[in-house]
Amino acid sequence: MNNDANHRLAAHVKGISKSFGDGGSRLQVLKEIDLDVRRGDITMLVGPSGCGKTTLISIIAGTLKADEGGLEVLGHDLNKMTTAAITQFRARHIGFIFQSFNLIPTLTCAENVSVPLLIQGVSASKAEKRAKEVLAQVGLADRFKHRPSQLSGGQQQRVAIARALVHEPHLIICDEPTAALDAKNGHVVMELFENVARGKERAVLIVTHDNRIFHHANRIASMDDGRVVEVHDVDADHPPPEHLKHVERL
Ligand SMILES: Nc1ncnc2c1ncn2[C@@H]1O[C@H](COP(=O)(O)OP(=O)(O)O)[C@@H](O)[C@H]1O
Ligand SMILES: [Mg+2]
Repeated sequence: MNNDANHRLAAHVKGISKSFGDGGSRLQVLKEIDLDVRRGDITMLVGPSGCGKTTLISIIAGTLKADEGGLEVLGHDLNKMTTAAITQFRARHIGFIFQSFNLIPTLTCAENVSVPLLIQGVSASKAEKRAKEVLAQVGLADRFKHRPSQLSGGQQQRVAIARALVHEPHLIICDEPTAALDAKNGHVVMELFENVARGKERAVLIVTHDNRIFHHANRIASMDDGRVVEVHDVDADHPPPEHLKHVERL
């Protein structure tokens, strides 16, 4: 980190560009993106389908490499780290909730949620105890032994959220975390995220189309066609602007 201001940032994205494909089919998906994700904040990323949101959060999470640009995550310069070091860093410090949940079908809920802890060498019994705590927090205390196929979409989404929170990562990144949730469970999940951010050391970055949850954001970044076109800081005097609310749905 080069200065104190950056130290407060969970992610500092500077001039990130990314293309897919070659030659005539080459598609530039991210075009010199700048974005700061502050610790203590819930940052939301909005924009029409296909504008590059998932690509951007995959780069911040270290699962995809940018073609160009600077990227510091929790004080680490990802460009200077080996793939193996990034994998380790991600397992320890980042909780990622995929749009498609990516639960392991052969494992029970409690086992799925235990995975990030087991990777870190926590004993199976301790991991299971902690996994059950977090599952209870997302309202799934009666589903420990179920497998993903035995759950509704909303329940699977909550298992994925529990798995992303279980190891208390410093940066939680989620692709549409409330899309499959009804109002009550969406509220439960957003309260969990607010608790995470309230600690001030941790940050939550959410891709969303869900108008119901914008008021939980501290910062809303709006993307269009591979660029961040507007960043809006939300507080008591500055509610989410109406024009950011009715973005195209997936
Ligand atoms: N692995 C890939 N290979 C080729 N094109 C991709 C790949 N991933 C995403 N894209 C394209 O990049 C664009 C942005 O995708 P994405 O980041 O998923 O958008 P969003 O999440 O905003 O809907 C889309 O046109 C998509 O088809
Ligand atoms: Mg997406």
